[in-house]
Amino acid sequence: MYTLGIETSCDETSCAVLKNYRVISNVTISSLKEHAKYGGVIPEIATRLHLKNIDKVLNCALKEAKVSLKQINLIAATHSPGLIGALVVGLNFAEALALSLRRPFIGVNHLHAHIFAPFLNNAHPIEFPFLGLVVSGGHTEIYYVEDFTRIRLVGKTRDDACGEVFDKVAKTYGLGYPGGPHIDRLFKASCKNDFSFKCGKIGFDFSFSGIKTALVYKKLELEKQKKLTRKTVVSLLSSFQEEVLETIVAATCEAASKFKVRKIVCGGGVIANRSLRRKLTSKISADLRVLMPPLEYTTDNGAIVAGLGFYLYNRKGKESPLSLEARANQ
Ligand code: KG4
Ligand code: ZN
Repeated sequence: MYTLGIETSCDETSCAVLKNYRVISNVTISSLKEHAKYGGVIPEIATRLHLKNIDKVLNCALKEAKVSLKQINLIAATHSPGLIGALVVGLNFAEALALSLRRPFIGVNHLHAHIFAPFLNNAHPIEFPFLGLVVSGGHTEIYYVEDFTRIRLVGKTRDDACGEVFDKVAKTYGLGYPGGPHIDRLFKASCKNDFSFKCGKIGFDFSFSGIKTALVYKKLELEKQKKLTRKTVVSLLSSFQEEVLETIVAATCEAASKFKVRKIVCGGGVIANRSLRRKLTSKISADLRVLMPPLEYTTDNGAIVAGLGFYLYNRKGKESPLSLEARANQ
Protein backbone atom coordinates (compact mmCIF):
# COMPACT_ATOMS: atom_id res chain seq x y z
CA MET A 1 0.00 0.00 0.00
CA TYR A 2 1.31 3.47 -0.92
CA THR A 3 0.83 6.39 1.47
CA LEU A 4 1.50 10.00 0.55
CA GLY A 5 2.50 12.17 3.56
CA ILE A 6 2.29 15.97 3.47
CA GLU A 7 3.93 18.23 6.06
CA THR A 8 3.63 22.04 6.15
CA SER A 9 3.35 22.92 9.86
CA CYS A 10 6.26 25.36 9.96
CA ASP A 11 8.95 26.27 7.42
CA GLU A 12 9.43 22.94 5.61
CA THR A 13 7.25 21.95 2.65
CA SER A 14 7.64 18.19 2.51
CA CYS A 15 6.03 15.25 0.72
CA ALA A 16 6.93 11.58 1.07
CA VAL A 17 5.80 8.32 -0.43
CA LEU A 18 5.88 5.21 1.72
CA LYS A 19 5.30 1.63 0.64
CA ASN A 20 3.82 0.32 3.89
CA TYR A 21 6.44 1.59 6.36
CA ARG A 22 9.29 1.79 3.86
CA VAL A 23 10.25 5.30 2.78
CA ILE A 24 10.66 5.36 -0.99
CA SER A 25 10.88 9.14 -1.32
CA ASN A 26 10.99 12.08 1.10
CA VAL A 27 11.39 15.48 -0.57
CA THR A 28 11.62 18.76 1.36
CA ILE A 29 11.99 22.40 0.36
CA SER A 30 12.83 24.52 3.38
CA SER A 31 12.13 28.25 3.49
CA LEU A 32 14.76 28.57 6.24
CA LYS A 33 16.98 30.95 4.25
CA GLU A 34 14.10 33.38 3.72
CA HIS A 35 13.62 33.59 7.49
CA ALA A 36 17.29 33.71 8.47
CA LYS A 37 17.59 37.47 8.02
CA TYR A 38 14.77 37.98 10.57
CA GLY A 39 16.27 35.51 13.08
CA GLY A 40 13.07 33.45 13.26
CA VAL A 41 10.22 32.04 11.16
CA ILE A 42 7.87 34.69 9.69
CA PRO A 43 4.47 32.92 9.35
CA GLU A 44 3.32 34.98 6.34
CA ILE A 45 6.48 34.12 4.39
CA ALA A 46 6.26 30.44 5.35
CA THR A 47 2.64 30.27 4.14
CA ARG A 48 3.38 31.93 0.80
CA LEU A 49 6.33 29.60 0.17
CA HIS A 50 4.30 26.49 0.99
CA LEU A 51 1.78 27.65 -1.64
CA LYS A 52 4.56 28.26 -4.13
CA ASN A 53 6.42 24.98 -3.53
CA ILE A 54 3.90 22.30 -2.61
CA ASP A 55 3.10 21.25 -6.17
CA LYS A 56 6.80 20.99 -7.05
CA VAL A 57 7.57 18.99 -3.91
CA LEU A 58 4.71 16.56 -4.57
CA ASN A 59 5.83 15.97 -8.17
CA CYS A 60 9.47 15.41 -7.10
CA ALA A 61 8.37 12.95 -4.40
CA LEU A 62 6.26 10.97 -6.89
CA LYS A 63 9.02 11.01 -9.50
CA GLU A 64 11.67 9.85 -7.05
CA ALA A 65 9.37 7.08 -5.80
CA LYS A 66 8.53 6.12 -9.41
CA VAL A 67 4.88 6.09 -8.38
CA SER A 68 1.99 7.90 -10.10
CA LEU A 69 -0.64 9.86 -8.21
CA LYS A 70 -3.20 7.22 -9.22
CA GLN A 71 -1.17 4.53 -7.43
CA ILE A 72 -1.42 6.34 -4.08
CA ASN A 73 -3.79 4.50 -1.74
CA LEU A 74 -3.88 6.82 1.29
CA ILE A 75 -3.21 10.53 1.83
CA ALA A 76 -1.96 11.80 5.20
CA ALA A 77 -1.33 15.40 6.24
CA THR A 78 -0.42 17.34 9.39
CA HIS A 79 -3.45 19.14 10.85
CA SER A 80 -1.98 20.39 14.17
CA PRO A 81 -0.12 21.93 15.94
CA GLY A 82 1.77 24.56 13.95
CA LEU A 83 1.49 27.92 12.19
CA ILE A 84 -2.13 28.14 11.16
CA GLY A 85 -1.59 29.60 7.68
CA ALA A 86 1.15 27.08 6.95
CA LEU A 87 -0.96 24.13 8.13
CA VAL A 88 -3.96 25.25 6.06
CA VAL A 89 -1.92 25.04 2.84
CA GLY A 90 -0.84 21.39 3.28
CA LEU A 91 -4.10 20.24 4.81
CA ASN A 92 -6.31 21.72 2.08
CA PHE A 93 -3.97 20.44 -0.59
CA ALA A 94 -4.22 16.92 0.89
CA GLU A 95 -8.00 17.07 1.33
CA ALA A 96 -8.47 18.28 -2.26
CA LEU A 97 -6.22 15.48 -3.56
CA ALA A 98 -8.16 12.89 -1.55
CA LEU A 99 -11.44 14.23 -2.88
CA SER A 100 -10.38 14.31 -6.51
CA LEU A 101 -8.59 10.94 -6.43
CA ARG A 102 -11.32 9.35 -4.25
CA ARG A 103 -8.78 8.09 -1.75
CA PRO A 104 -9.03 7.98 2.06
CA PHE A 105 -7.53 10.92 3.95
CA ILE A 106 -6.07 10.88 7.44
CA GLY A 107 -5.10 13.89 9.58
CA VAL A 108 -1.97 13.58 11.73
CA ASN A 109 -0.69 15.41 14.83
CA HIS A 110 2.76 16.80 14.07
CA LEU A 111 4.27 15.99 17.48
CA HIS A 112 3.00 12.43 17.44
CA ALA A 113 4.49 12.13 13.95
CA HIS A 114 7.91 13.13 15.35
CA ILE A 115 7.88 10.15 17.72
CA PHE A 116 6.93 7.86 14.86
CA ALA A 117 10.30 8.60 13.21
CA PRO A 118 12.27 5.71 14.83
CA PHE A 119 9.70 3.21 13.49
CA LEU A 120 10.07 4.18 9.81
CA ASN A 121 11.49 1.52 7.50
CA ASN A 122 10.49 -1.04 10.16
CA ALA A 123 13.68 -0.13 12.00
CA HIS A 124 12.00 -1.18 15.27
CA PRO A 125 8.80 -3.10 16.00
CA ILE A 126 5.92 -0.82 17.08
CA GLU A 127 5.34 -1.98 20.66
CA PHE A 128 3.57 -0.19 23.50
CA PRO A 129 3.65 1.31 26.04
CA PHE A 130 6.59 3.68 25.81
CA LEU A 131 7.58 7.18 26.77
CA GLY A 132 7.70 9.66 23.88
CA LEU A 133 10.15 12.56 24.02
CA VAL A 134 9.68 15.40 21.52
CA VAL A 135 12.35 18.12 21.54
CA SER A 136 11.77 20.55 18.69
CA GLY A 137 11.73 24.22 17.75
CA GLY A 138 8.21 24.76 19.02
CA HIS A 139 7.75 22.02 21.62
CA THR A 140 9.47 20.14 24.43
CA GLU A 141 7.13 17.41 25.66
CA ILE A 142 7.11 14.02 27.33
CA TYR A 143 4.24 11.62 26.61
CA TYR A 144 3.03 8.31 27.99
CA VAL A 145 2.09 6.41 24.83
CA GLU A 146 -0.29 3.48 25.31
CA ASP A 147 -0.90 3.46 21.57
CA PHE A 148 -0.69 6.22 18.92
CA THR A 149 -4.45 6.58 19.51
CA ARG A 150 -3.97 7.00 23.30
CA ILE A 151 -1.25 9.51 24.10
CA ARG A 152 -1.08 11.28 27.47
CA LEU A 153 1.03 14.40 28.02
CA VAL A 154 3.06 13.95 31.22
CA GLY A 155 5.60 16.77 31.01
CA LYS A 156 6.16 19.92 28.99
CA THR A 157 7.91 23.25 28.87
CA ARG A 158 6.01 25.91 30.78
CA ASP A 159 7.38 28.67 28.56
CA ASP A 160 9.87 28.52 25.66
CA ALA A 161 10.61 25.30 23.78
CA CYS A 162 14.16 23.93 23.80
CA GLY A 163 14.86 24.63 20.09
CA GLU A 164 13.40 28.12 20.41
CA VAL A 165 15.77 28.89 23.30
CA PHE A 166 18.77 27.51 21.37
CA ASP A 167 17.78 29.74 18.42
CA LYS A 168 17.28 32.87 20.57
CA VAL A 169 20.52 32.42 22.52
CA ALA A 170 22.44 31.79 19.29
CA LYS A 171 20.95 34.98 17.83
CA THR A 172 22.06 36.97 20.89
CA TYR A 173 25.62 35.69 20.38
CA GLY A 174 25.59 36.56 16.68
CA LEU A 175 25.48 32.99 15.37
CA GLY A 176 23.31 32.08 12.37
CA TYR A 177 19.71 30.89 12.25
CA PRO A 178 18.64 28.26 13.20
CA GLY A 179 20.99 28.44 16.15
CA GLY A 180 20.68 24.87 17.46
CA PRO A 181 23.20 23.32 15.03
CA HIS A 182 25.67 26.21 15.67
CA ILE A 183 25.60 25.67 19.45
CA ASP A 184 25.90 21.91 18.87
CA ARG A 185 29.06 22.48 16.79
CA LEU A 186 30.60 24.96 19.26
CA PHE A 187 29.99 22.71 22.29
CA LYS A 188 33.12 21.61 24.11
CA ALA A 189 32.71 18.96 26.81
CA SER A 190 35.69 20.37 28.72
CA CYS A 191 33.81 23.71 29.09
CA LYS A 192 30.41 22.34 30.12
CA ASN A 193 30.83 23.33 33.79
CA ASP A 194 32.66 26.65 33.26
CA PHE A 195 29.51 28.65 34.09
CA SER A 196 26.72 27.72 36.43
CA PHE A 197 23.31 28.28 34.79
CA LYS A 198 20.02 26.81 35.96
CA CYS A 199 16.82 25.75 34.20
CA GLY A 200 13.49 25.48 35.98
CA LYS A 201 12.20 21.95 36.61
CA ILE A 202 8.79 21.36 38.19
CA GLY A 203 8.00 17.63 38.31
CA PHE A 204 8.29 16.52 34.69
CA ASP A 205 7.80 20.10 33.43
CA PHE A 206 10.62 22.48 32.49
CA SER A 207 11.16 26.21 32.20
CA PHE A 208 13.79 27.61 29.85
CA SER A 209 12.99 31.32 29.69
CA GLY A 210 15.11 32.11 32.80
CA ILE A 211 18.28 30.54 31.39
CA LYS A 212 17.68 32.39 28.11
CA THR A 213 17.54 35.75 29.95
CA ALA A 214 20.60 34.81 32.01
CA LEU A 215 22.58 34.25 28.80
CA VAL A 216 21.48 37.64 27.44
CA TYR A 217 22.55 39.49 30.63
CA LYS A 218 25.82 37.57 30.87
CA LYS A 219 26.71 38.77 27.38
CA LEU A 220 25.98 42.40 28.30
CA GLU A 221 28.01 42.09 31.52
CA LEU A 222 31.03 40.51 29.79
CA GLU A 223 30.88 43.04 26.96
CA LYS A 224 30.98 45.89 29.48
CA GLN A 225 34.02 44.30 31.16
CA LYS A 226 35.59 43.71 27.71
CA LYS A 227 35.86 40.00 28.53
CA LEU A 228 33.68 38.61 25.74
CA THR A 229 36.24 36.56 23.83
CA ARG A 230 35.60 33.63 21.47
CA LYS A 231 36.83 31.31 24.25
CA THR A 232 34.33 32.76 26.75
CA VAL A 233 31.49 32.38 24.24
CA VAL A 234 32.36 28.68 23.81
CA SER A 235 32.40 28.27 27.61
CA LEU A 236 29.09 30.09 28.02
CA LEU A 237 27.28 28.21 25.27
CA SER A 238 28.70 24.82 26.32
CA SER A 239 27.54 25.42 29.91
CA PHE A 240 24.14 26.58 28.62
CA GLN A 241 23.67 23.53 26.36
CA GLU A 242 24.77 21.15 29.10
CA GLU A 243 22.24 22.50 31.63
CA VAL A 244 19.30 22.54 29.18
CA LEU A 245 19.96 19.01 27.92
CA GLU A 246 20.66 17.58 31.38
CA THR A 247 17.32 18.99 32.59
CA ILE A 248 15.43 17.32 29.74
CA VAL A 249 17.22 13.98 30.15
CA ALA A 250 16.73 13.99 33.94
CA ALA A 251 12.97 14.66 33.64
CA THR A 252 12.62 11.99 30.93
CA CYS A 253 14.42 9.35 33.01
CA GLU A 254 12.36 10.22 36.10
CA ALA A 255 9.15 9.91 34.04
CA ALA A 256 10.33 6.56 32.60
CA SER A 257 10.86 5.25 36.11
CA LYS A 258 7.55 6.64 37.46
CA PHE A 259 5.54 5.17 34.55
CA LYS A 260 7.57 1.93 34.64
CA VAL A 261 8.21 1.97 30.88
CA ARG A 262 11.09 0.04 29.36
CA LYS A 263 11.39 2.19 26.27
CA ILE A 264 11.93 5.88 25.42
CA VAL A 265 11.15 6.94 21.84
CA CYS A 266 12.66 10.26 20.70
CA GLY A 267 11.87 12.74 17.95
CA GLY A 268 12.06 16.40 16.89
CA GLY A 269 14.71 18.71 15.44
CA VAL A 270 16.81 19.04 18.62
CA ILE A 271 17.19 15.24 18.75
CA ALA A 272 19.81 15.84 16.03
CA ASN A 273 22.02 17.37 18.75
CA ARG A 274 25.07 15.12 19.21
CA SER A 275 25.37 15.66 22.93
CA LEU A 276 21.64 14.99 23.51
CA ARG A 277 21.85 11.78 21.50
CA ARG A 278 24.86 10.67 23.57
CA LYS A 279 23.20 11.54 26.86
CA LEU A 280 20.02 9.64 25.97
CA THR A 281 21.75 6.56 24.59
CA SER A 282 24.01 6.42 27.68
CA LYS A 283 20.82 5.61 29.67
CA ILE A 284 20.33 2.36 27.75
CA SER A 285 20.40 -0.64 30.09
CA ALA A 286 18.98 -4.14 30.35
CA ASP A 287 15.72 -2.52 31.54
CA LEU A 288 15.59 0.52 29.32
CA ARG A 289 15.78 0.92 25.54
CA VAL A 290 16.11 4.29 23.82
CA LEU A 291 14.93 4.53 20.20
CA MET A 292 16.52 7.35 18.23
CA PRO A 293 15.50 8.37 14.70
CA PRO A 294 18.17 8.61 11.97
CA LEU A 295 19.20 12.28 11.53
CA GLU A 296 17.25 12.69 8.25
CA TYR A 297 13.97 12.06 10.11
CA THR A 298 14.59 14.34 13.11
CA THR A 299 13.51 17.64 11.52
CA ASP A 300 10.11 18.19 9.90
CA ASN A 301 9.43 15.87 6.95
CA GLY A 302 6.62 14.11 5.11
CA ALA A 303 7.84 10.56 5.87
CA ILE A 304 6.96 10.75 9.58
CA VAL A 305 3.48 12.05 8.63
CA ALA A 306 2.93 9.24 6.11
CA GLY A 307 4.22 6.61 8.57
CA LEU A 308 1.93 7.67 11.40
CA GLY A 309 -0.98 8.21 8.96
CA PHE A 310 -0.62 4.65 7.66
CA TYR A 311 -0.48 3.29 11.22
CA LEU A 312 -3.57 5.27 12.34
CA TYR A 313 -5.59 4.35 9.26
CA ASN A 314 -4.96 0.64 9.87
CA ARG A 315 -5.44 0.90 13.63
CA LYS A 316 -8.66 2.92 13.57
CA GLY A 317 -10.00 1.35 10.42
CA LYS A 318 -11.47 4.68 9.37
CA GLU A 319 -10.47 7.89 7.65
CA SER A 320 -10.66 11.50 8.88
CA PRO A 321 -13.46 13.71 7.59
CA LEU A 322 -12.49 15.99 4.70
CA SER A 323 -13.85 18.85 6.84
CA LEU A 324 -10.98 18.33 9.34
CA GLU A 325 -9.63 21.78 10.20
CA ALA A 326 -6.13 22.99 10.95
CA ARG A 327 -5.40 23.89 14.60
CA ALA A 328 -2.51 25.99 15.86
CA ASN A 329 -2.50 24.15 19.20
CA GLN A 330 -2.66 20.44 19.94
O1 KG4 B 1 11.33 19.64 14.63
P1 KG4 B 1 11.83 20.85 13.93
O2 KG4 B 1 12.37 20.68 12.54
O3 KG4 B 1 10.72 21.95 13.82
C1 KG4 B 1 9.67 22.08 14.74
O4 KG4 B 1 8.74 21.27 14.71
O5 KG4 B 1 9.82 23.00 15.60
O6 KG4 B 1 12.95 21.52 14.88
C2 KG4 B 1 13.66 22.67 14.53
C3 KG4 B 1 14.55 23.03 15.72
C4 KG4 B 1 15.24 24.39 15.59
O7 KG4 B 1 15.00 25.14 16.77
C5 KG4 B 1 16.74 24.03 15.47
O8 KG4 B 1 17.61 24.99 16.03
C6 KG4 B 1 16.78 22.74 16.23
O9 KG4 B 1 15.60 22.06 15.88
N1 KG4 B 1 17.96 21.92 15.89
C7 KG4 B 1 18.96 21.66 16.76
C8 KG4 B 1 19.91 20.89 16.04
N2 KG4 B 1 19.45 20.69 14.77
C9 KG4 B 1 18.23 21.34 14.70
N3 KG4 B 1 19.15 22.02 18.03
C10 KG4 B 1 20.28 21.62 18.64
N4 KG4 B 1 21.24 20.89 18.03
C11 KG4 B 1 21.11 20.50 16.75
N5 KG4 B 1 22.05 19.78 16.15
ZN1 ZN C 1 8.59 19.51 14.11
